[in-house]
Amino acid sequence: MTGARRGNGSRPARRGQSTTTVGDERSALRVLVMVGGPGAGKGTQARYLSAALGLPHVASGDLFRDAMAEGTPTGLEAKAYYDRGALVPDELTVRMIAERLDQPDAASGAILDGFPRTVPQARALDGFLLRRGTRLEGALYIDVSEDELVRRLSGRWICSGPAQHVYHVVNHPPERPGICDFDGTELSQRADDAADTIVARLEKQLPPMYEVVDYYAERGLLLPVAGETRASEVTDALLRAIEHAVAEPVT
Ligand code: AP5
Repeated sequence: MTGARRGNGSRPARRGQSTTTVGDERSALRVLVMVGGPGAGKGTQARYLSAALGLPHVASGDLFRDAMAEGTPTGLEAKAYYDRGALVPDELTVRMIAERLDQPDAASGAILDGFPRTVPQARALDGFLLRRGTRLEGALYIDVSEDELVRRLSGRWICSGPAQHVYHVVNHPPERPGICDFDGTELSQRADDAADTIVARLEKQLPPMYEVVDYYAERGLLLPVAGETRASEVTDALLRAIEHAVAEPVT
């Protein structure tokens, strides 16, 4: 497998002065999106950013997994796509995210992890934010090669506790094999991290993701960071990118 195409790393084109800083309570509605291939580290980083910025972490994949576990109509419809590593149709996905963003805890904004995954989803998000009198703060793009994506997905183990702590057999192993360091629950692999589903996810999901990367680059909103360094270094790079975007917003 070849390395992933590098994202368009061009700096945002039109940025000016801002009255806000990272974590500034004066910001009315702050929405950031996390873009990256399956296994790029979006979830790992979104948890840190959520704590650092005081914004809820809204992960489309988690919402689908919850809906499937509960057997809701959304879950039943999504399952056929999810199980074969395909994207769930835009209309269903956009509706689910819009309902989630209308929840009280997202009144001040959110970190969206895994949404948008297609240009129609990105356009729908723009429309949603416009109706609320705001726009996207930035699109954080974690750039990771395809070979590394495969290594990360195939070595990922997740705890069965409510916090769903994430491990990796090589990069981030638990102290006791198969047991979560935090809540002592058993670790398991996600069904869609099976080898053949990983291949399907990359084949089906990377092309539309690159279109989303281009969409945000063209609008001066792309905040690319190198994703193949230690997780803490990726977090620092993301926070610096957000700080820069807040200091010089697109006008
Ligand atoms: P989703 O759950 O969003 O899966 P994904 O995008 O494939 O992303 P992952 O959760 O697999 O990976 P991640 O980037 O969060 O990486 P992680 O932090 O875990 O979506 C699942 C499915 O739902 C999709 O296939 C689709 O069917 C559907 N879906 C979801 N959103 C949709 C949408 N918008 N539209 C349509 N359908 C949608 O890290 C991975 C591993 O790497 C871990 O083991 C971690 O420990 C390790 N790691 C992380 N960072 C580092 C680092 N810096 N160095 C070394 N190891 C690291």
